[in-house]
Amino acid sequence: MNIPAKIQFILLLCSTWALNSHAQNKDRQMEKLIKKNMMFAAHQYKLLAKNTPADKMPRNFSEEKQTLETSNTSWWTSGFFPGSLWFIYEYTRDSSIKLEAEKRLAILEKEKYHSSDHDLGFMIFNSFGNAFRITGEPKYKNTIITAAETLAKRYRPSIRAMQSWNAGNGFAAPVIIDNMMNLELMCWSADEIREPLFKIIAITHANTSLREFYRSDYSAYHVVDFDLEKGKVRAKLTAQGSHPESAWARGQSWGLYGFTMMYRYTQEKSYVDHARKIARFILDHPRLPKDKIPYWDYDAKDIPNTYRDVSAAAILASALLELARYVEADERAEYLHVARTILINLSGKKYRSKKAGNGGFLLRHSVGALPYQSEVDVSVTYADYYFLEALMRYKNWLDQ
Ligand code: GLY
Repeated sequence: MNIPAKIQFILLLCSTWALNSHAQNKDRQMEKLIKKNMMFAAHQYKLLAKNTPADKMPRNFSEEKQTLETSNTSWWTSGFFPGSLWFIYEYTRDSSIKLEAEKRLAILEKEKYHSSDHDLGFMIFNSFGNAFRITGEPKYKNTIITAAETLAKRYRPSIRAMQSWNAGNGFAAPVIIDNMMNLELMCWSADEIREPLFKIIAITHANTSLREFYRSDYSAYHVVDFDLEKGKVRAKLTAQGSHPESAWARGQSWGLYGFTMMYRYTQEKSYVDHARKIARFILDHPRLPKDKIPYWDYDAKDIPNTYRDVSAAAILASALLELARYVEADERAEYLHVARTILINLSGKKYRSKKAGNGGFLLRHSVGALPYQSEVDVSVTYADYYFLEALMRYKNWLDQ
């Protein structure tokens, strides 16, 4: 059947209009979802602040026991509460949220000298980094630079990496995949004060991680233990995963986020190529559930009768929203679609706290360290933090 040219033209106009209006509706739906979550977050985090003594940070909330656990500022998660407050302030401009963030930074600042493990990136960059980005206050920058100087001392030339934990518990010089996340503190500081050494350390560490942590399917070991004298790998194993050869879910998300971030600071193609391969491992995984909220370990023995890890999902969404900037259109569309799916699902009843629930945390159902029965199926600050970061990153996509 021959359709006259005029009708063909009208049909083309109609379908273009339909596609555009569908895309616009989707965007409006996400705009609304972001706004609702940010308003909810402002409400919840005021409650969380009230529930948390002034010299402590919130750590987790158990729904089963209805208990809030707090921590000292020396615990690895201490930067996430103030960091989240800064995201909420950035969106809402609520001055009481800003005041709370400033108070929590004041108790956290001493950790710029924290030298007993590698967690300074999490503690200082996610908190003071956001504070500096949003306010431009020079005092925040000074804290970050001091923290980078402290972290640089954990660099071990013989293994070409920063040692994550001290020797003990059967480990000699353990490095964990999570350490990729601390490299942003080093890269940012290097660029800010033109100190190439910090960036050299970060790049060297990333290259060692790329070489030593990844299996042929682009899943990562959790821990690589080194022999400092011989400068060699002693063992590849796990601490928080199901078993040594398993793919611990949060570790896969840390790696994806870390290599994507390293590409931003270096423009080194091997990092973005590697991140894309990690993304394939995750997104094509037969045991990644339809709602894209991973089980706590992709190789957990009792899937599907085991826990999800919402923190792994939130980090994954945030990482994909950055990786989407560095790839071609089809891949970009896929990453944005998965991130959107995660954000929508995390905003639903199954994964988001009830209003005034969970002590003020935003999200439910994360897993800290199941092999130690520690923080299993609870709310944690880092899930909230990366959820908020992902919402802000999605907003940036909508605003551009
Ligand atoms: N070490 C940080 C984590 O549990 O992911």
